[in-house]
Amino acid sequence: MIFFEHVIEGPPDAVFGLMGTFRADQRPEKINLMVGIYKDEHLKSEVMPVVKKAKEKVLASDQMADYLPFDGAPQFFESLGKLVFREWGNVEDRVYATQAIGGTGALRLGADFLAQEVGKRVWIPQPTWANHRGIFERAGFTVETLPYYSSAQHGIDKSAYFKHLRSLPPKSVVLFHGTCHNPTGCDPTLEEWKEISHICKERSLLPFFDFAYQGFGDGVEEDAGPVRLFLDEGHEFLVAYSCSKNFSLYCQRVGALFVVCKEAAVKPRVGSQIKRIIRTTYSNPPAHGAKIVAEVLNDRALKVEWLKELDQMRHRISQARALLVKKLVAKAKKIDFRFVQQHKGMFSYLDLSPKQVKELMEKHGIYMLDSGRINVAGLTSQNIDRVVDQVIAVSEA
Ligand SMILES: Cc1ncc(COP(=O)(O)O)c(C=O)c1O
Repeated sequence: MIFFEHVIEGPPDAVFGLMGTFRADQRPEKINLMVGIYKDEHLKSEVMPVVKKAKEKVLASDQMADYLPFDGAPQFFESLGKLVFREWGNVEDRVYATQAIGGTGALRLGADFLAQEVGKRVWIPQPTWANHRGIFERAGFTVETLPYYSSAQHGIDKSAYFKHLRSLPPKSVVLFHGTCHNPTGCDPTLEEWKEISHICKERSLLPFFDFAYQGFGDGVEEDAGPVRLFLDEGHEFLVAYSCSKNFSLYCQRVGALFVVCKEAAVKPRVGSQIKRIIRTTYSNPPAHGAKIVAEVLNDRALKVEWLKELDQMRHRISQARALLVKKLVAKAKKIDFRFVQQHKGMFSYLDLSPKQVKELMEKHGIYMLDSGRINVAGLTSQNIDRVVDQVIAVSEA
């Protein structure tokens, strides 16, 4: 009674909180375009067949009851390192890699390390994934925003973004989305990444990539372009990687943190500090998810299958997006919805106001985030016409 009486209820999570409302909605025609989970055309979100295969192999052979090392299974972060940086042999002497508890855990681990060793001021894009602010604030950061998206331009406000980036104080941490910016779906071009890289060098900024959607943009190799550019250009930087989406291992919590150092001599010292953080936070990571990823990536045939299945997922999303744009453009009278075609990854930003989003939810049972972000993978041939009609109705009213 005396210790917890004062506790007030925390606010619901922006994404998961809304799921409760959706579940309680009795309307059979309700449509879920909220949470960032890939769904097939039957709205099923199942484990990828190749991952199921690898899982069976891992479970059949894994007799180990021992703890994993603090930084996890080496076969996992080595194989993932190759996927991210193209080469692992050439860079492993200066890139510290560790398993993490999903992409979220990797971000938090990186934030804890930076708070301890570099500084506690981070700039995140406006808008960004709803959890970024909370992760950095919990790690003790002051979180500032960089203007990123402009509704008027239906895309990145490049001049404002670059101008702000150029004004940041040295040693600032800057968060970038490696690919498929969440929630807007708007990514810089490779040329623009070169400009960003140049500014980071000029201003001594520390880039922190959140890389949660490799393979969902233009392809596994293409999506790694920005991270590889920063490697080639000699930056020190961090990458928080998530295997939730591209391996359909959401519930297994598989991710990795990479810290790219300039010199090999620094890497073990960086690693020793990160291992101390891990030891005092969760001690040792879970084994199976990471071993499944390593099994897929280290077996030639399984890797080919994985790439094919990932391609299919990407194509399903891009077909759904293309159909959405075609129908919106055909029916809209005032708004030119072609901007939606430029978006990459699972999400699109429809430039709706919170009031319009509320109306879609309350009147029509069409659920999306407050920001107007939709999960394109939630669209099917059964529901797309209703989404198109109602989005046009609210936005052109
Ligand atoms: C941009 C971004 N970063 C990180 C994550 C976290 O991924 P995980 O589920 O692996 O923690 C997500 C998940 O939705 C995301 O969209």
